[in-house]
Amino acid sequence: SDPRSFYEAVGGEPTFRKLISRFYAEVAEEPVLRPLYPEQDLGPAEERLRLFLMQYWGGPHTYSERRGHPRLRMRHVPFKIGPTERDAWLRAMRVAVDETGVEEPYRSQLWQYLEMAAHSLVNSWE
Ligand code: HEM
Repeated sequence: SDPRSFYEAVGGEPTFRKLISRFYAEVAEEPVLRPLYPEQDLGPAEERLRLFLMQYWGGPHTYSERRGHPRLRMRHVPFKIGPTERDAWLRAMRVAVDETGVEEPYRSQLWQYLEMAAHSLVNSWE
């Protein structure tokens, strides 16, 4: 077994930077997702998601120092997230995960979590 945290095992901050910057490059071009993001500049949203995932996987707790408890379901309530939005989010994330080159078994572990989390944030079934 590997005593390092997932965060360290996949390469630490540079890996999360690459992953989330690739994800937001997809979001910027995604007609379903882009209108959901209220800010013109996606940079701050990119930083929040990156810091959250770094913290979740055993890295520094900068996310909670800045934002408090994640409360992801509550924080997504302002946005209509149906199956279409969820699937678009997962498609963009899939591209990012594939291109970041995270090795197994971490890749599957990461993907399983992201899929579960995305399904749990659906808040509209219209
Ligand atoms: C914030 C959309 C799934 C984590 C946001 C925001 C939008 C959004 C529009 C606001 C942007 C901002 O200003 O930060 C979506 C959609 C999803 C989804 C459409 C599809 C299911 C997820 C998942 C995670 C996640 C699966 C975690 C694994 C976050 C975080 C924030 C955020 C950490 C920032 C919260 C804060 O501190 O304010 N999301 N999201 N989201 N999302 Fe998502």
